[in-house]
Amino acid sequence: MTRTPVTVTVTGAAGQIGYALLFRIASGHLLGADVPVRLRLLEIPQAVKAAEGTAMELDDCAFPLLSGTDIFDDAAKAFEGTNVALLVGARPRTKGMERGDLLEANGGIFKPQGEAINAGAADDIKVLVVGNPANTNALIAKSHAPDVPSDRFTAMTRLDHNRALAQLSKKTGVSVDDIKKLTIWGNHSATQYPDVFHAEIAGKNAAETVNDQNWLENDFIPTVAKRGAAIIEARGASSAASAASAAIDHVHTWVNGTADGDWTSMAVVSDGSYGVPEGLISSFPVTTKGGKWEIVQGLDVNDFSRTRIDATVNELSEERAAVQKLGLI
Ligand code: NAD
Ligand code: LMR
Repeated sequence: MTRTPVTVTVTGAAGQIGYALLFRIASGHLLGADVPVRLRLLEIPQAVKAAEGTAMELDDCAFPLLSGTDIFDDAAKAFEGTNVALLVGARPRTKGMERGDLLEANGGIFKPQGEAINAGAADDIKVLVVGNPANTNALIAKSHAPDVPSDRFTAMTRLDHNRALAQLSKKTGVSVDDIKKLTIWGNHSATQYPDVFHAEIAGKNAAETVNDQNWLENDFIPTVAKRGAAIIEARGASSAASAASAAIDHVHTWVNGTADGDWTSMAVVSDGSYGVPEGLISSFPVTTKGGKWEIVQGLDVNDFSRTRIDATVNELSEERAAVQKLGLI
C-alpha cells in the first residue's frame, strides 16, 4: 500500500456504537476501498481494557487497509495528527430522559476534546460529533478550538435523514435510492424537522406524491423525530448499529461528495441562512464537494416548514444559552 494512511480518532471506542463503527472504518467504508487508515482510540481509563479487546479483534480481521490501532486515555495524545475525528464517547440517555438532560453530563467531555483537537490535530481535520446532545456538544468543541476553521465541526443528523428515507420508502413503495433532496432541519432531538417539501420521489415532488398532510404531520414527522426514543424503548439501549452506519455515511459523503441532483443533511455551523442564528450548529440541506460542504441556498420555506424550523432552532438557541451559563462555551 503506497498511500499514507489517514489518521482516524474515535472516542468512546469501547462503547456500543464504537463496536459497530470500528470494523467498518477499518474495512474501507468510511473513506474508500483504497484508503488506508490508522486508528487512534480514546476511552476513559476504566474502559481501556475493553478497547484493547476490540483492537485485538481488529487485528484478527487482517484488514489490508488498517495500518495500526493505538489506544489512549488522554485526549491530547489521541488527537495528535488526526485527520478525521469521530466524537462518539458520551453517556447515552436511558428510558424517560430527553437528550437535553445530557447537556451538563456530556458537555464537560467536549471542552477538553476541542482543546486537544486545536492543539494537535492535522490541518485538514474534520470532526463529526455523534455523542448527544450532538449539536451543542459540537458547538462546545468548536468554541475550544479557535485555530480550527469552524466549518470543520459538524454534528450528526444523518441517522435522522436515513430514518426519514426509510419511512418515505415504506409509505410509497419506492426504493430509498429513488428518494432525493430530503432535509432534516435543526437539532438532533424530538424538535427536529424532517422536510419533504423539496424532496423528490422517483423524480416527482414528494409532498405531492404522498398527498397526505395528516400522515405527514401525525405519522411521518413524529415517527422520525421520536425514533431514538422508540429504539430505546424497544431495545432497552440506544441505537448503535444504525448510528454507526449513519456516521460512516456522514463522513463518506463529506469526503467523497454528494451525487449530482441530490443533497444530504448535516448539522453545520450556521452562517445565518434560513434565519438560523449565526454560530449555531444546526442541520441544513447540504451539498459536499472536494471535502467541503455548502448549505443549499434559495429554497422556498412554506409556513408549515417555517414554524417547525423556528421551533427546533429555538431549542438550539436555548441549549447554547444553557451551556453558556454552565461556562462550557
Ligand atoms: P455507550 O455507553 O455504549 O458507549 C459510550 C462510550 O464512551 C463508553 O465506552 C464510555 O466509556 C466512553 N466515554 C465516556 N466518556 C468518555 C470520554 N471523556 N472520552 C472517551 N470516551 C468516553 O454509548 P453508545 O451507545 O456508544 O452511544 C454514544 C453516544 O452516542 C451517546 O451520547 C448516544 O446518545 C449518542 N448517539 C447519538 C446518535 C446521533 O444520531 N447523533 C445516535 C445514537 C447514539
Ligand atoms: C438516536 O437518535 O437514536 C440517538 O440520538 C439516541 C437517543 O438518545 O435518541
